[in-house]
Amino acid sequence: MSDYMFMLENHLSPGQNRAVALVEAAARESGVRAFLTGGALRDMLGGFPIRDLDFTIEGPTQKIVRLLEKRDGVRTDLVDPPRKAYSLVFADGVKAEISIAHEAQYLKPGARPRIRPATIHEDLKRRDFTINSIAISLNPASRGLLLDPENGLGDLERRELRTNSNYTLYDDPSRILRMFRLRARLGFDLNEKTQSQYHNVREAGLESKIPAEALRAELREMAEEPNPAGLLETLERERLIGLFSPALSGVKLNAQGFAKLLKIRQMVPFGVDFHASNLGLFLHTLFEKFTDRERKDLIKRLKLTAKEASAPKELAQRAKKLERVVGSPKLNRASLVYKALRSAPGEEVLFLMAHSEKRIVHDRVKNYLTKYLETANEVTDKDLAPLSLDPGSKEFAKAKLERVYATLDGRIRKPAPPPPPPPAPPTPMNAWARRG
Ligand code: CTP
Repeated sequence: MSDYMFMLENHLSPGQNRAVALVEAAARESGVRAFLTGGALRDMLGGFPIRDLDFTIEGPTQKIVRLLEKRDGVRTDLVDPPRKAYSLVFADGVKAEISIAHEAQYLKPGARPRIRPATIHEDLKRRDFTINSIAISLNPASRGLLLDPENGLGDLERRELRTNSNYTLYDDPSRILRMFRLRARLGFDLNEKTQSQYHNVREAGLESKIPAEALRAELREMAEEPNPAGLLETLERERLIGLFSPALSGVKLNAQGFAKLLKIRQMVPFGVDFHASNLGLFLHTLFEKFTDRERKDLIKRLKLTAKEASAPKELAQRAKKLERVVGSPKLNRASLVYKALRSAPGEEVLFLMAHSEKRIVHDRVKNYLTKYLETANEVTDKDLAPLSLDPGSKEFAKAKLERVYATLDGRIRKPAPPPPPPPAPPTPMNAWARRG
């Protein structure tokens, strides 16, 4: 196995690894060449958590998509016909996108480009930034081969954002929003030429050519950022925030609300399986300081769908229902609180933590996030070995849950961790360190 394939397998979650294996197999059967591209490679090589998977196919995507749908139960949706791009949701909830390798010809700034099928090399070179132009082959003859035609690896090491061409931001000015989002997330610098391209694009006022559709997509991406407040402030400093809403400045950016949300998100222990849909939470926080009119203006300006526009209100209503359940006097054991919150969508739990004014609810949700999730996570399959059940069976899952409940309620105690090893006998070096 190549070093990069090994690295990839170690960085992906078990579900993402299964998704890669399924796409690899479907591509082989369909006789097309598949590559994992873009964000996943950037994040793996830069040492950031991998968010979503993008597959690029040299050849048509229809056959591979049908195979994934019929055989592997993947939910698919054609999201961009010119790129033959489908969103994929795998049986265990892992999300990905698959599209054809293509070139894009921009006739004028901000207009939809003309698309034509191309090789993977051409596809990588037409992308926005060098660090997004890396791919790994999933094909039997070259499996694990890294393609990096723009030396994105070098820029990852230098921690620099560099556009692939002198026209990157002219062709598609929405890329300036992507650029600031990536910079805020990764903490990279803009390379000098990229910086001057950006200034020229701004001088030409091309940000006004960013279509509503791209602004809406960017808002959705912002909602997925762990700390959107920093990005909103950057956009305000760059005088770009007005593209989303002229009202958005100063206190209306709700830095306090986003800081609170970040603090609550950080309560979820690392490595715990906790899923939250972020758009409703993000929009609720964003709209907190808005008047009704400002909110309606943003919805109209960005052409949000009815579902997106109602997401904050709908979330608040769902959370209210959960609040009644969690506040019930019947939930008098940790396991009952855990059970009630575990079956609720993550965004409702986070919303309650941020907004519930009921002390008992607040305390129970806090205990759940900061203690119970961790305790439950410490119950491993190994703990059930004495039962000799098949780990894939329903009985096993049930027994594991029972064990989690028993541990939470203090009916089973985890064995105490082994005592730390005795201190090493003093050597000249550590004797010196101890003195210090
Ligand atoms: N892309 C581009 N110009 C755009 C949008 C996307 O060149 N206006 C390219 C980028 O190189 C990106 C790829 O298309 O790597 C896939 O886009 P997307 O899924 O939006 O971005 P990711 O790279 O996956 O990054 P993230 O989701 O973390 O923003």
